[in-house]
This record gives sequence, structure tokens and C-alpha cells, in this order.
Amino acid sequence: MRYAAITGWGMAVPDRVLTNADLEALVDTSDEWIVSRTGIRERRIAGPGDSNTSLAVAASRDALAKAGRVPADIDLIITATFTPDLFLASQACMIQAELGGSAAAFDINAACAGFVYALASATSFIRSGMYRTILVVGVDTQTRFIDYTDRATCVLFGDGAGAVLLEATGEPRGELASVLGADGSGVQALYVPGWTWDDGPAGDDPTAAVLGPRPRLDTHPAMLMQGNEVFRFAVKVMCDAARQVVLKAGLSLDDVDMLIPHQANRRIIDAAARTLALPRDRVWINIDRYGNTSAASIPMALTEAVAAGKVAEGDNLVFVAFGGGLSWAASLVRWGTAGVERCRADGGAAAAPPADG
Ligand code: UT7
Repeated sequence: MRYAAITGWGMAVPDRVLTNADLEALVDTSDEWIVSRTGIRERRIAGPGDSNTSLAVAASRDALAKAGRVPADIDLIITATFTPDLFLASQACMIQAELGGSAAAFDINAACAGFVYALASATSFIRSGMYRTILVVGVDTQTRFIDYTDRATCVLFGDGAGAVLLEATGEPRGELASVLGADGSGVQALYVPGWTWDDGPAGDDPTAAVLGPRPRLDTHPAMLMQGNEVFRFAVKVMCDAARQVVLKAGLSLDDVDMLIPHQANRRIIDAAARTLALPRDRVWINIDRYGNTSAASIPMALTEAVAAGKVAEGDNLVFVAFGGGLSWAASLVRWGTAGVERCRADGGAAAAPPADG
């Protein structure tokens, strides 16, 4: 059998810190309200020198260094983001341009669930035998889409990037099972507007006579959210998806060494952990320092959990996320790099893809 071990992990955040005290000066809120309702104390916000690309590249270099690999080793880059620096080209191509190498590259948008969607996609590419080494990046600079006069959203979100490198192995490591889901009837619960027909083209637009009215981009698109609706949805899908993915891997919740949840609200994480009967020391939480970093939140949390020595070879990790769409995703990951060296040495023969793959 062929599997896709995580051999490198990394993260990057902007230097600029936005504290609850800063937000008190912007909207009618308080540190006490934000901490008690969300668990967030501060978040990072992109400054003039930062971009989706710069954060993603820094996280990717971190992941490559930990894996002892170079950009020329990468076969494919998948980037999960809803805030690419350009509409065209893809964020993944911009990352490849900065890193070097000649990997294939494309983006996935599943909002805050994007990283887990991307991990499942990358794992499938490796398990099928199509590729051996894939860089998966979760990055969002969503503070670009925050209205800092809207207290319902501006306290929650921050910017950041996380990345993992996946490599083929013949041992059961990396993602052993995944669950992906979506309910498009919930689009209105959490979205950023895009195109509008309001006002039409300028009266003197010479193309209007031929083309008629054309849509234009909303000039200051800001995130809109039904917080309560998302909260209820989040607790339910986190618990359902975590249970399903553990079952799919042939395990039970008792076998889970660490839950690494999407960091959206401390109360959502606590409620899910309570329902799943997972003790606090088996749930990784860093929302107090970064807020909700969307597609970056799970790879950032993973990177910190590993740095803290909380993850060991053979541990079973559950990643679970939810977000705009509405969408959700969970992954059961067996930590460690067993068998990777052998695969590197023999050019992949030790992890032959399935005969029908
Ligand atoms: O990746 C997915 C992204 N989104 C989420 O995960 C969001 C999920 N939802 C949430 O995290 C929570 O629903 C929020 C943090 C957004 C809101 O917390 P809540 O406990 O559900 O508050 P609420 O919306 O029920 O509002 C309670 C009160 C209201 O005042 P009244 O009507 O009781 O007088 C709000 O106007 O809190 C008020 N409020 C605030 N007060 C101070 C709402 N936002 C704020 C604020 N500061 N920032």
C-alpha cells in the first residue's frame, strides 16, 4: 500500500499585532466580552510588507526545511485560500514562482475547511501513484475583507499561513481517512460579496452600447456573517465529522491522541471537546494568540503542537474544520515519517501504488 506521510510543517504570521484593546478603540466592544465569548486576546494583521504570497512562502520554506527537502523536490503545490493575491494567476503559481522549482500548482477554496480539503486531495494524488511529493498550503489574509466598524466580525479574524509537505511511504502514515461535506443552502450565513450590477457601467463607457450593462466588483467587499447560525452548525459538524472520520479509519475516539480543530471560537472548541469526551490535554488550542485564521488555522496549530513536543511518531491526530459554504472536513492523520527514507532512496518502489491505481 502507498500512503502520504507529513514530513514537513511550518507557519508564518504577520508581525503586526491587533489586540482587544486596539479593537476597543475602534468599535463598541470590550476585552472582557471578546475573551469570554471567543477566547481571543490578540490576532495578527497583514501590514504593508505582507501578502498572501509572502506569508505562504515563509510557511512553505519552514515546512521544506523541516523535511530536509528543496523546492525542486516538489511535484505539486495545492493552496487552500479564499484570499488569493490575484484572481488570475492562482495563489499556488505565485508561491511556486517565489520558491522556485517546476511543480504543478492549483488552488482550492473551501473557506476555513480548505486546508483539510487540500490535504485529502493531495493524499489522493500520492496514494494513486500520480505524485510522490506535494506541498499543501493553507493561507488567508482575510483582514482585507473585514469591516472594522462591524463588531460582529472584526474581533474574530486574523491573518496567517501554514504548510505541510507530504511524501510517499509504504507505511501507514499521514491521512488514513477523510470526511468532506458541504451544504450550499448555507451560503448566506457567511460570505464576502463579489460582483454587483448596481449603478451599471459609467454613462460614457464606449463599450456599453454593444455589451449593455456589465457587473462590476464591489469596491470594498466586507465579510457578512450570521454568527449564531454558524455557531450552531459548527458544533454539530465538528462532532459529527470527527466521529465519522475516526470510525472510517477503523478506530475509536479513545485512540485519538490529539484533536487539532479549526480555531474559530474557544466556546465552539470546548463544546465539541465536551461532546466527544476528549480531555483538555488532547485538544490543541491557540486561538487566544491568532484568532480565526481560516485555511491557515489547522496547519498553524499543528506546527505549534509539534514544536511543543505534544505529537509523537504513531500518534493519531484528528483535524476538523468548518466554514463558509457552508463546508466542513475532517481528517484522521497518523503522525510520523516511517518508511519515507526508504521510499526516497528507492525512488518510490517501496510504496508502489495499488495495481488498479
Ligand atoms: O470559520 C467560521 C467563522 N465564523 C464563526 O465561527 C462564527 C461562529 N459564531 C460565533 O463565534 C459567535 O456567534 C460570535 C462570537 C460571532 C457571537 O457570540 P454570541 O455569544 O453568539 O453573541 P450574540 O451574537 O448572540 O450577541 C450577544 C450580544 C448582542 O447584544 P444584545 O443583543 O444581547 O444586546 C450583540 O449585539 O453581544 C453583542 N455583541 C457584542 N458585544 C460586544 C456582538 N458582538 C459584540 C462585540 N462586543 N464584539
